[in-house]
Amino acid sequence: MSRTPFLAGNWKMYKTGAEAVAFIEAAKPLLAGTSGRQAALGVPFTAIGEAATAAQGTGILIGAQNVHWEKEGAFTGEISVGMAKAAGASFVILGHSERRQYFGDTDEWVAKKLAAAVDGGIVPVVCLGESLAQRESGDTFKVLGAQIRGSLAGLTAERAAALILAYEPVWAIGTGKTATKEQAQEVHAFLRGELGTLLGDRAASETRILYGGSVKPDNVKALMGEPDIDGALVGGAALKPDSFVQIVKFDL
Ligand code: PGA
Repeated sequence: MSRTPFLAGNWKMYKTGAEAVAFIEAAKPLLAGTSGRQAALGVPFTAIGEAATAAQGTGILIGAQNVHWEKEGAFTGEISVGMAKAAGASFVILGHSERRQYFGDTDEWVAKKLAAAVDGGIVPVVCLGESLAQRESGDTFKVLGAQIRGSLAGLTAERAAALILAYEPVWAIGTGKTATKEQAQEVHAFLRGELGTLLGDRAASETRILYGGSVKPDNVKALMGEPDIDGALVGGAALKPDSFVQIVKFDL
């Protein structure tokens, strides 16, 4: 089963709606005629509507960077899956390390958000990754094994069809320090094995596993050459249209 490469920007807390439109207008002609891959942008909530309208006909998916697990309720400052979807989001980034580190997202919350995304019919992109201290103490696989079990808790094989995972070593995010392709491949292969244990062979072979952490136009091709790396989740290098487009067109 071939896994269509998924090249996604994570804009974090950057860009207004107008700035998102300007970015997409600039990227559009550069992406024209590009096939065999899925381009995607995880944008701030406030830019989803304008970005989704601007992205129509470009093939770029627009997504959110977080959601609440409830459909509605007294949750000041939160956004539900249904709201993100109605605004134009077709995917959501869940459990990014910045959410885990600064906003208290836990594996348990990620699992609830994942269930809400599946129920609501948007693609969940679940992020996992070890810190530098965890890597240096030799705990990488122990940490990632616990994270994947916790974050996918309750998910069944039938409900995993749209699932995407992202391996984002915390020490590589925004630091300019990319994991080597060998380091990334080793973890991706491990995560695919865990998917097999948790959800069965089909989910293991069909789920795309993205790499994230200082992905740039000049390192994406080598990473994508590894057998278990199926895409990228890109922060800094996805904020400029030409750099984002070069990443989307990694092999062209
Ligand atoms: P970076 O961020 O590409 O700027 O390292 C990646 C991410 O946080 O998703």
